[in-house]
Amino acid sequence: MGSSPARMSSGAPAPRVEVECLKAYSAPLEGRRGLLRLDFNENTIGPSPRVLEALRAIPADQIAVYPEYDGLREAVVANLSNRDQGRPGLTQPLSPSQIGLFNGVDAAIHAIFHAYGDRGDRLLTTSPTFGYYTPCAQMQGMKILAIPYEGSDFRFPLQVIRTLLQQKRPRLLLLCNPNNPTGTRLAPEQILELAVAAPETLVVVDELYEAFTGDSVLPQADFSVTPNLLVLRSLAKTAGLAGLRMGFAIGSADVIDRVSRVTGPYDINSFAVTAAFAALDDQAYVDAYVADVLKARDWISARLDASGVPYHLDGGNYLLIWPQQQPTEVEAALRKRGILVRLMTGKPLIDGSLRVSIGTIEQMQQFWQAFATVESLAA
Ligand SMILES: Cc1ncc(COP(=O)(O)O)c(C=O)c1O
Repeated sequence: MGSSPARMSSGAPAPRVEVECLKAYSAPLEGRRGLLRLDFNENTIGPSPRVLEALRAIPADQIAVYPEYDGLREAVVANLSNRDQGRPGLTQPLSPSQIGLFNGVDAAIHAIFHAYGDRGDRLLTTSPTFGYYTPCAQMQGMKILAIPYEGSDFRFPLQVIRTLLQQKRPRLLLLCNPNNPTGTRLAPEQILELAVAAPETLVVVDELYEAFTGDSVLPQADFSVTPNLLVLRSLAKTAGLAGLRMGFAIGSADVIDRVSRVTGPYDINSFAVTAAFAALDDQAYVDAYVADVLKARDWISARLDASGVPYHLDGGNYLLIWPQQQPTEVEAALRKRGILVRLMTGKPLIDGSLRVSIGTIEQMQQFWQAFATVESLAA
């Protein structure tokens, strides 16, 4: 890549060359309200009533004053340490300085690349995976090594990743666990093993969907042993705060400090802060939602098995379905019936599939009825 020209053709000043070459990550997110949203793996029923109560009680001066974050890191620690509902709790206690607060995990990912990704450094990750890692690497001028999942069941390419960690010494390893969109799960022991073997690499584990199959590395993590490990969690998917934006990075205090240096002082707004306190304090609501999704997951996979439709389902609150007809036509026909699903067109290994988020049983019944009609299956 050469140096950027001083001006663009319009006469406006040219940005950095990496930005000029960048294709922005754009998700088709308009006009979704009122429809059954099975396209972005969001919570499909909304947040806890306690979140809504807390938001309604926000006084005017909270809006006029810059946001305050006191106590939120402590609330995250308390939530993560909570052993209710059979959750394993933490082997090593966390301190508030080990929690980074971000305007969604997207902002955390952006900050990680900003803080750690130098021009020419390598990002090692998998393919297909969450779409925002690539533009973040590109805007830093990083080289991307994206290793395909293996086999028809999309197994994690452990041996290749191990070898490349040693051979290429990437600056960043991004692991989405379970992976969006393949659902591939990697055992916490294996993540820790990778982190121990590559102390110069920041190993980032994006755990947005861990709650659905209990895949988190956090219960076993000891950040004094693996200070190069960084875990991402969000209140978007299970807690239902996608619209307010609240994400967390959990790691060694040094890494959290460095990643937090590249954000603005008030990037998280005070509505999100209020909602986060209420959501973190009502884990029972999230647990009940997750339990509903798991029941719906069993229900839809039984239907798919009985109908012979090719599908792939592993971790997370989503599955991949290969329709008989053109996926674009099926997606459009479902949309006409008020149901949104996500096309995987152009994604390596899974081109031709649709990603369908899993909501409640009633919602999956609604999806199945429409899908079976569109595909002329026996419902
Ligand atoms: C794997 C993964 N990471 C991060 C994000 C973004 O999370 P947030 O809404 O907290 O920014 C998503 C959202 O779809 C995701 O699927």
